[in-house]
Amino acid sequence: MTPYQNSHICFDSVSAKELAEQYGTPLYVYEAGRIRENFQQLDHAFKKEWPNFQIYYAVKSNSNPAIVKLLMNEGAFCDCASLNEILLAQKLGAKGKEILFSGNYLSDEDLKAGMESKAYVNLDDASLLERLLKFGRPEVLSFRINPDIGKSNVHESDVMAGKQAKFGIPWEKAKEAYAKAKEAGITKFGVHMMTGSCVTEPEYFEEITKKLLDCVGPIARDLNIKFEFIDIGGGFGIPYLPDEKPLDIEKTAKKVCSIFKKKTKEFGLGDVQLVVEPGRYLVGDAGFIIGRVHAIKESYKKFVGTDVGMSVLARPVLYGAYHGIHVDKMTAHGEPTKTAHGEPTKTAHGEPVEPEKVTITGQACENADAWAKDRALPKCEVGDLIVVENAGAYGYVMSYPYNGRLRPAEVLVDGSTHKLIRRRETFEDWISGTIS
Ligand code: LLP
Repeated sequence: MTPYQNSHICFDSVSAKELAEQYGTPLYVYEAGRIRENFQQLDHAFKKEWPNFQIYYAVKSNSNPAIVKLLMNEGAFCDCASLNEILLAQKLGAKGKEILFSGNYLSDEDLKAGMESKAYVNLDDASLLERLLKFGRPEVLSFRINPDIGKSNVHESDVMAGKQAKFGIPWEKAKEAYAKAKEAGITKFGVHMMTGSCVTEPEYFEEITKKLLDCVGPIARDLNIKFEFIDIGGGFGIPYLPDEKPLDIEKTAKKVCSIFKKKTKEFGLGDVQLVVEPGRYLVGDAGFIIGRVHAIKESYKKFVGTDVGMSVLARPVLYGAYHGIHVDKMTAHGEPTKTAHGEPTKTAHGEPVEPEKVTITGQACENADAWAKDRALPKCEVGDLIVVENAGAYGYVMSYPYNGRLRPAEVLVDGSTHKLIRRRETFEDWISGTIS
């Protein structure tokens, strides 16, 4: 996003105003260029250090087929959490090992479908092995390990390893799981962990990589088994708060690969493939929501009512997550009244544009829907457009049609072109499948 170009907020060279007029609001907008850049940055950073490296895109973070395809075209494989995500990846052309199936608490139906899909299956627990074997013997089998370290800069529910986590096999019990699989005749293995989402400290990724390798190294040696891949998960964070620092991906890759080199050598793991499965890092900052101000109320405090509410973007209400908000508006002096994160900006004459503290709310019949509290923003009027940042990951995928406020449309901007990649939900979509 360019905050202001030709006097309006722009995505690449397309203005928020033009998109809102053509497609309506609320509207999810993604910048293709940014997604490609994010992918290449991460890919290059790691490949430089360990060429046998593969990104599996976490489809759950944004499963719009146009976005998944865009990343596949860059070279991403797909990390899928469910049968439907596998079907989506297959529909887009992914096959076999290009799909990693990492579900949890799976049904027999899921396990069967996983086997039939020929995807790499990553089991969340040793108890699933026997059930999986009813449907055949996988050529390569992976287990998800809980290394007993977890972290998130968002919320405790984004911490996915450690004693409170529902995921993975406690690392102390991992050897038993691989021994069982070897006994069952499986000869090729992978290992996986996903310890937390949205971490911006490079040292953390080094620490978890070391812990995982210290777990699998002795297993490979003691059981005399071969690992095809070692998957250290996703979790690469992005800054949401105004003063948050971005993750230094170069430094992260250096640190991770340096310990990876040392430990693979120490345990004789050879040129094993290093896998990561990011979602947020690839698409998070490439997505935005354009909303419109529909009503303003001076109550005990000032509410700015927009069509971006908790059902359009669930993260603030679910996790107390912060998303930067811009108002697409100019001052009387022709300067943007942008306060990216609430700081007053100056007019052409150097006078500060005084922000006022308002609470941004959606239209749902829940007070939780007043989701951006006491933000300092330029004075809004009914009809103004707002733009919400960092909505590319866990945005649309977590939207829902509560109160009959239906899901938004999605648009992909690529340079000066834009196209609808999902139309707005209609009343017919909403009631389809219901029986009365
Ligand atoms: N791999 C697995 C097995 C995962 O469960 C996840 C995310 C990822 C990869 C990708 O993680 P990422 O690179 O995006 O951090 N709804 C929450 C985030 C939940 C993450 C779920 N799993 C949020 O909006 O903050």
